[in-house]
Amino acid sequence: MIKIKKIAVLTSGGDAPGMNAAIRAVVRTGIYNGIEVYGVNMGYSGLLEGNIKKMELSSVADIIHRGGTILGTARSDEFETKAGQQKAKNILKDIGIEGLVVIGGDGSFRGLLELAKLGIKVIGIPATIDNDMGYTDFTIGFMTAAETVADAISKLRDTSSAHGRANVVEVMGRDCGDIALYSGLAGGAETIFVPEVNVDYKDFIEKAMQGKRRGKRHHIIVVAEGSANTFELCKMLEEETGIETRVTVLGHVQRGGTPTVFDRIWASRMGYVAVNSLMVGDSGFALGIRCNELVKTEIEKAVNIKKIFNKEILEIAEILSI
Ligand code: F6P
Repeated sequence: MIKIKKIAVLTSGGDAPGMNAAIRAVVRTGIYNGIEVYGVNMGYSGLLEGNIKKMELSSVADIIHRGGTILGTARSDEFETKAGQQKAKNILKDIGIEGLVVIGGDGSFRGLLELAKLGIKVIGIPATIDNDMGYTDFTIGFMTAAETVADAISKLRDTSSAHGRANVVEVMGRDCGDIALYSGLAGGAETIFVPEVNVDYKDFIEKAMQGKRRGKRHHIIVVAEGSANTFELCKMLEEETGIETRVTVLGHVQRGGTPTVFDRIWASRMGYVAVNSLMVGDSGFALGIRCNELVKTEIEKAVNIKKIFNKEILEIAEILSI
């Protein structure tokens, strides 16, 4: 056991439901073990401004069920530079902070890696609604976002059936289609467009026509933002099939809300393990989930593992919505 006296925690990148549960776990595990825990406000940008405060047990009261992040989050151009990283290291050293826990996505982990190279002890907790990190099966916030979208799809289905229309739903995911994939299967969508698979417009139109011929009264199409132009798809569908179509862009609604039990449990476990790792002298690890186990992967390796798209889920969704 290493005698560690002060650690800090920050959230970085796009917020994700469950970040607060992770902050709470870091703060409470630290204090339980006699460690002073500091919260860095506004991500790396706040770190560079020295926007850091000591946290108490009460600082994280009543947040386990809240979306967003009580620490705030921001993007920082300065932290991308070597000078910025050195400055961040000096600020941490001046306060006597020996370990840093960063809760965020891929970009946040790359920044963390640079701090590790400068000698700061670091642990990363994966949190982004995109689920775009290859080393872990799931990131904190993803399941909550998928749940939010599935709920929206269920509601759109009601109005779709009532009018006999098609409803196209645009969801987040510039490079990773997991939100569309999981919510699309859960919502029984007829077609799911993701950036990882080329769009087959012919199949798409043919499937809608088959549904129309069978007298199907609802058509749900889920489009990941990085896969196709949602409004052009809508126009094409109307013109080629004669089915009246509406578009819904869910946008940042997907980023908020009460985290699911899944996200709260993993955030709590990871926050706990992050502090315990620092206490035994472990550093430079990204925590993750593999086959329902909590795993530690070197950050350098973690950020270079390519995310593999689950084609089987897409095939299942296609077949089950014929
Ligand atoms: O990375 C998370 C994410 O929500 C993406 O899915 C989305 O494309 C992007 O952030 C939106 O970023 P911003 O909040 O900066 O508009």
